[in-house]
Amino acid sequence: MKTTIFCFSGTGNSYYAATAIAEQLGDTTVRMTSSLLDAENIEMTERVGFLFPTYKGFPPNQMKDFIQEVFSKQDLEPIRYLFMITTRYKFQAYSMVAMEVLLREAGCAHSYANHIVMPDGYVPLVPVPTEEKESELYAQADRSIRLIVEDIQNETIKLAGKRPFSRLALNYLMGFIHSSSKLFARKFTVTDACTSCKICYRMCPSANITMVEGKPVFGDNCEGCLGCYHRCPEDAIQLTTRAHEGRYRNKRSGYNMEYRI
Ligand SMILES: Cc1cc2nc3c(=O)[nH]c(=O)nc-3n(C[C@H](O)[C@H](O)[C@H](O)COP(=O)(O)O)c2cc1C
Ligand code: SF4
Ligand code: SF4
Repeated sequence: MKTTIFCFSGTGNSYYAATAIAEQLGDTTVRMTSSLLDAENIEMTERVGFLFPTYKGFPPNQMKDFIQEVFSKQDLEPIRYLFMITTRYKFQAYSMVAMEVLLREAGCAHSYANHIVMPDGYVPLVPVPTEEKESELYAQADRSIRLIVEDIQNETIKLAGKRPFSRLALNYLMGFIHSSSKLFARKFTVTDACTSCKICYRMCPSANITMVEGKPVFGDNCEGCLGCYHRCPEDAIQLTTRAHEGRYRNKRSGYNMEYRI
């Protein structure tokens, strides 16, 4: 059965999971939501998946925009089985129920919801995982991915649990929480170590970086994903607020997408 996975990824964890699931399912295309925000006609397959991180207990803003502005306007008739998977560290809070509401309002019920535990690069709150911890989490993630693939192949039904006030949380709390994420990049400065390699520019999932005289300049459409911060090979992007030391390089994901296409 043909499958399309719509994926958002900041530091590469969700991309890793999406590509691993795609490889194991076969006949699967991974499409980054960042490159589909202006798409008019997206050909739907019989099986459709959503893969995204949990950010502050919700899906990323871009997932919401993609579902409301793009996905809901497509011909959803061919979809027979829809799965949604979040990668997260400790708790997913409203991320699944928010997706459930968004998809239902777009005209599509989900068949399967699950999560994969991954390393967390949110250094304002948590330390960067050690290499040992990272390997442990990835091994655990690989086991979860194999089970999820089996579930999808067997068309298992596993619905997102209910949470109180999910519609209110989606309408008000998510907007409030993510409005501060949009301005997150104001906390970045760029040091002279910057070599103008453009990695941050090319891989920002919200196209929030422009290059001015060879240096990145950040806009106010940030997802707060910290992808640029962790990926910069020179550690030239610095946070002006308190944060744990170190960078989460996420070498394992092989995440080297070109968002600017
Ligand atoms: C801004 C931000 C907020 C996060 N919030 C949560 C959270 O609420 N719960 C959680 O378990 N993990 C949280 N995490 C960890 C991520 O969900 C986890 O690292 C995820 O796998 C990142 O996926 P990505 O690399 O595809 O962006 C957060 C990470 C970031 C950067
Ligand atoms: S990734 Fe780092 S070195 Fe490369 S352009 Fe961005 S800030 Fe400069
Ligand atoms: S500017 Fe950096 S933190 Fe903000 S969305 Fe882009 S990559 Fe993520």
